Amino acid sequence: MPRIGSQYLLQPIINNCLGPKLVRPSSFPLPLSPSGSGSYPPGGERLLLLLRTHPSSPIRPIASAASLPPPPTPNEVHIKVTMDRLADAAHLMIVSDLDHTMVDHHDPENMSLLRFNALWEANYRDNSLLVFSTGRSPTLYKELRKEKPMLTPDITIMSVGTEITYGNAMVPDDGWVEFLNQKWDRKIVTEETSKFPELTLQSHTEQRPHKVSFYVQKDKAQDVIKALAARLEERGLDVKIIYSGGMDLDILPQGAGKGQALAYLLKKFKAEGKSPNNTLVCGDSGNDAELFSIPEVYGVMVSNAQEELLQWHAANAKDNSKIIHATERCAAGIIQAIGHFNLGPSVSPRDVTDLSDSKLDDFDPAYEVVKFNLFFERWRRAEVEKSELYLANMKAVCCPSGVLVHPSGIEKLLGDCVNAFRTCYGDQQGKGYRVWVDQVLPTQVGSDSWLVKYKKWELSGEKQKGCLTTVLLSSKGVSVPEGLTWVHVHQTWLDGAGPTDDSSWFF
Ligand code: GLC
Ligand code: MG
Repeated sequence: MPRIGSQYLLQPIINNCLGPKLVRPSSFPLPLSPSGSGSYPPGGERLLLLLRTHPSSPIRPIASAASLPPPPTPNEVHIKVTMDRLADAAHLMIVSDLDHTMVDHHDPENMSLLRFNALWEANYRDNSLLVFSTGRSPTLYKELRKEKPMLTPDITIMSVGTEITYGNAMVPDDGWVEFLNQKWDRKIVTEETSKFPELTLQSHTEQRPHKVSFYVQKDKAQDVIKALAARLEERGLDVKIIYSGGMDLDILPQGAGKGQALAYLLKKFKAEGKSPNNTLVCGDSGNDAELFSIPEVYGVMVSNAQEELLQWHAANAKDNSKIIHATERCAAGIIQAIGHFNLGPSVSPRDVTDLSDSKLDDFDPAYEVVKFNLFFERWRRAEVEKSELYLANMKAVCCPSGVLVHPSGIEKLLGDCVNAFRTCYGDQQGKGYRVWVDQVLPTQVGSDSWLVKYKKWELSGEKQKGCLTTVLLSSKGVSVPEGLTWVHVHQTWLDGAGPTDDSSWFF
């Protein structure tokens, strides 16, 4: 079964990154028909999301950009650190769009995102890779991170695949920048686009070195794109024009885009002998279409996907059983796809009512951390019964003589902390209180002990606080169902996330 029905979108991606150029049907480029508003040519390929201005120009493969071996830069060292975090190939690599895919802007409670977060941290963080691929610039991406309870990805692809960064420090991939500079002249793009009154420039933060972005009305988009593509081709540029969300028009170098950026990453991992065992791409709109044309990947279009993406899929990939249109919205659709394709555990700890009942085959420090923090949220929201049994269970998992170094610097006995739990039962009811953990990374430090480092976040009303937390967990003298013992906890306020009043921070 062919991977996709048409090669129109697949080709540029494969050609630029992975190998020799394929023969393109002579009818390329196709007229654009965003969101079903225009008329389509007969023969099936009904929607054009991407337009190249130089259909016949040879495309330089990425290999040629890398053929002059540059000396290793400090950035490359950082990149390697991120890529080498996993000793082996990633079990799963999720490459997800953010707006209306990972993040549901119509869910003020952020439930599907929080469910995904708990699933990822409990089951995948330690052996898998999380990649966010967004149209947003670094500025708007950072704003979104402040607004929503998002995890920290291993790799961040921003500005529609034109900026790739690694790790928490978001170290840019200079090799990618260099590659995108080919056949790109931002000045010519701005010069030509200024001649189109239908185009309204987006905010200055969204104008990036390899991305020029506008708004254009749906009914005008098709004609404008055609005319603009012709003008830019005449000026000798090889660009890609992408229409998303029925309003956004991005102009990028031909070699850019979310799909190209993913192909580039996959090539890098392959060179290291660490191709992920499985890759799942997740999206909702036009600029995500490219992701679904990368060979071998699984794909999920979330239930709320835009018409333009669904039409692209119908025309180009409808026979590909590795792509589904989820029945669930946003991050819930991603969880659904993990289950559908059997990519690993797909039950979020948030969907488990009685966490003490979870059946584990072996000690699982990451799961323990997620479970403990989730219980704490439920306790303070009064979503579990105020029972002595729960308190006794808590006491049983906390070594009574163990110590908590509170972020304020004060030391407390873990036994005393559990006793204090009585006082905070239900104290966060009705305040939208949520707890989530990020980057839960356990290291086995002895035959029966683990050091787990993670970021713990709490949201209450408008206030968000976070602590970098290190926990020593022990399996000495306990059985798997009893769970690991918390021996020592050390917390430090995360940058700028400390409270003015720290009395409400328990753990
Ligand atoms: C994001 C970006 C915007 C872009 C759009 C579609 O909203 O902020 O600049 O046009 O994605 O790619
Ligand atoms: Mg989106």
